[in-house]
Parts: sequence; structure tokens; C-alpha cells
Amino acid sequence: MTTPADAADSGDVRRLADWDADRLRSLAGEYGSPLYVQDLDRVRANYERVAAAFPDADVLYAVKANAGGSVLDALRDVGAGAECASAGEVSRALAAGFQPGEIHYTAVNPPARDLDYVLDAAPGATVVVGARDTLDRLEERGFDGRLALRVHPGVGAGHSDEVATGADAKFGVPHDDAPGVLAGAAERGFDVVGVHAHAGSGILDAADLDSHREVLDRIATVARSAPVDLEFVDVGGGLGVPYRPDERPLDLGAVANAVRTALADVDADLVLEPGRYLVADAGVLLAEVNTVKPTGGATLAGVDAGMTDLLRPALYDAHHEVRSLAPDASDRDTERVSVVGPICESTDVLAADRSLPAPARGDLFAVGNAGAYGVEMASNYNSRPRPAVVALDGGGDDRLAREREPLESLTRLER
Ligand code: LLP
Repeated sequence: MTTPADAADSGDVRRLADWDADRLRSLAGEYGSPLYVQDLDRVRANYERVAAAFPDADVLYAVKANAGGSVLDALRDVGAGAECASAGEVSRALAAGFQPGEIHYTAVNPPARDLDYVLDAAPGATVVVGARDTLDRLEERGFDGRLALRVHPGVGAGHSDEVATGADAKFGVPHDDAPGVLAGAAERGFDVVGVHAHAGSGILDAADLDSHREVLDRIATVARSAPVDLEFVDVGGGLGVPYRPDERPLDLGAVANAVRTALADVDADLVLEPGRYLVADAGVLLAEVNTVKPTGGATLAGVDAGMTDLLRPALYDAHHEVRSLAPDASDRDTERVSVVGPICESTDVLAADRSLPAPARGDLFAVGNAGAYGVEMASNYNSRPRPAVVALDGGGDDRLAREREPLESLTRLER
């Protein structure tokens, strides 16, 4: 399901090498580092490609990938809805101007505080439940809004087992039980409008697509057996992006065909929930080298960003490309380099043993595909303030989208 080699030129992917080094250096000069740069034009272009591949679908943006207000604004503007995983995400979607009717709240073991908030603040939202208990708790609250059932398909897909949620019983009711749960919900008077299944995150190659097809078949079976007319079938998110230079971009047409085939005889609208695909290659993380340490093996380039800024390498062993933005990078010899952060953890490695131009103190590095699950998974561990975010918009105009956290923010909530 990989696409021909010329796909890189067709707009399907933006590689780290495609970013303008001068521009990134000047942004770091202006806003400091570490710095996330998010290109909203690219976010919109990514959305348009999905909308074109799935012309009849409602596309909900999975807010968890990047909940920045500028990103939410851009996607709302072009017509996306919002898939939210928490009260916090619902509140940010509402703040960005999404109407409750455009919001799906995917309630995974929802804290009471979250349920209460969403029912109160976004009464028109669709609540997607993944456990019988959640139905009971909604009934206790007199919920009479739109309800969908998340089905646990028993098959997962994705860039690693940690994100193959379709195979994880934590998410959704087993597909065999789903028809019964749907019937029970309808009998209890819930307004059942849809069914949902999410295979996992990072579907990219043919094997991933095969797993995704199984998920689609299972959700189609559930939809056909539903005791009520369904308004929609939501096939989740998971559209992957290439993190490594030798990976080809996702063939959206092949995914669209798989969806069309599986749901051919299901009379319901299609809903998709991409997160990563819309924002990943629209973002980079900039970090400055402050320490160069020769070792017996790879040279260590110590930078001012680490696992608190970009957790994916430490958490999933995820690969992110790193590029030296030093003006004379192409004149330098290359050597084996590991890019390590300032946090007191051995797993604080952004990139291990890469071939890079010999690093020097003061060099700027760009880390690619940082627009999804980057700033969103940042933390204050080691009492590190979270980084600033700059948004590029309208052909590249820049504006500060999120301030660098000041040190005072670390103690602000203490009593
Ligand atoms: N819908 C549901 C119900 C989900 O659970 C997710 C992701 C999505 C949509 C969006 O998936 P996407 O299109 O972004 O793959 N932190 C991990 C990813 C975890 C995703 C969890 N759920 C990472 O950095 O790879």
C-alpha cells in the first residue's frame, strides 16, 4: 500500500529536509529554544487531502494530537469537527469555537468530573461510550443526548503495540457483545446514533492496512446487526505518517477503498477521526546544542530539549529525524551522533546514533514530525517549563501561539 517514489513530490508528505533552514534559525533567534514551530497552512493542506480522499465523510480532528488553539482554529475553519478524549479537550474545542454538535466525546473510563462537565458544557455533543458502566452513569445523570458505542474489535494496528488500541480490552465493548449492548441502550431510551472502532495509531504499510480491514469488517458486522437505524459509523483515526526517510507516505486512496468496500452495504454516514495525519509533518521542534561530548561510541550532542518536550522517543522508542541547521552543516564531516536532553534520565535521548554533521556548541537542530503528540505530551518533569509554540500562517507569517512557561508557573498552584 505504499505509493510510488514520486509521492513525496505530490504533497502527500513534508519531510524534515523540506523546511527552510534560514527561516527556522531566525524563528529560534526570535523566540528562543526549545521551540515548537507549527505550520497551519500545512495543517489545512493535510485536512484537504483527507477530505478529498473521503468526500462523503465527516472528518473529526482527534484533538489529543495537538490541542493548541491555533491548530484547532485552523481545522475548524476548514470544516473539521472535533474528537475529544477528556473534559479538558472539550473545553479547548469549545473555546476554539467548535459547536457542541460538532464534538464527539470519547469517554474512556470517564472521571465523574469529566462526564459532569461535558454534559453541562456541551449538551449537543455525541458521547461515545466504551463500557456498560458508562451507560449506567449517563442514565444516573439523566443524559438524553446523542450516544454512540465504541466497539472493541479485538484486532489492533499501529506503529507499536503500545498504541494498537484495537487489541486492548480497555477500549470499547467486545464486538461480539456490541449488538446486545446497543439493543439494551435503545431499550433504555438512549438516542443511539452511531458505532465506533479505532484500530490503533500509525497505520502506514500493507500489514497495518490488513489489520485495519479486519477492524472495518468487524465494525461493519456490528453496524449491520444494530437494532436501530444508525446515523454514522465512525472508523476512528490512525492514519499514519512516515517518520523515517525510507518510509513511503500512506496511500489514502487505498484506505478509502478499504473503508468503502467494508461498509458498502451499511446505510450510515462515515466518520473519521484522524489526529497525527493532520498535524505531524506540519510541526518541528527546534533545540540548541549546548554540550558536545566525545565518547567511545557516538558523540553526544546535548541539547536544550528532551523527553519533557518530546516524549515519543523515550516512551515508544519512536524515530524522529534530526537535522542540523548549522549554516555550514553541509561542509562538515559527518559522524555518529546521539542527541540527548537535559533531563536526569538515561532514556532522555531524542535520537540515538545518527549520522549527522559534526555538532558544535550553539548549533540548532530540528526534530521532524513533531507536530503530533509533541507539545501535547510535554511535561514539567525535572521542573522544566514547557516550551513555546510558534504558528506559521498565511504563507509563513509567524506569531507566538503559546508562551514558553515561566519558572513561576512551576509553583503557581502550590498552597
Ligand atoms: N480516535 C481515537 C478514539 C483515538 O484513541 C485516537 C488516538 C485517535 C482517534 C487519533 O489517532 P491518530 O490519527 O492520531 O493516530 N501518543 C501516541 C498516539 C496515541 C493515540 C491514542 N489514540 C503517539 O505519540 O504515537
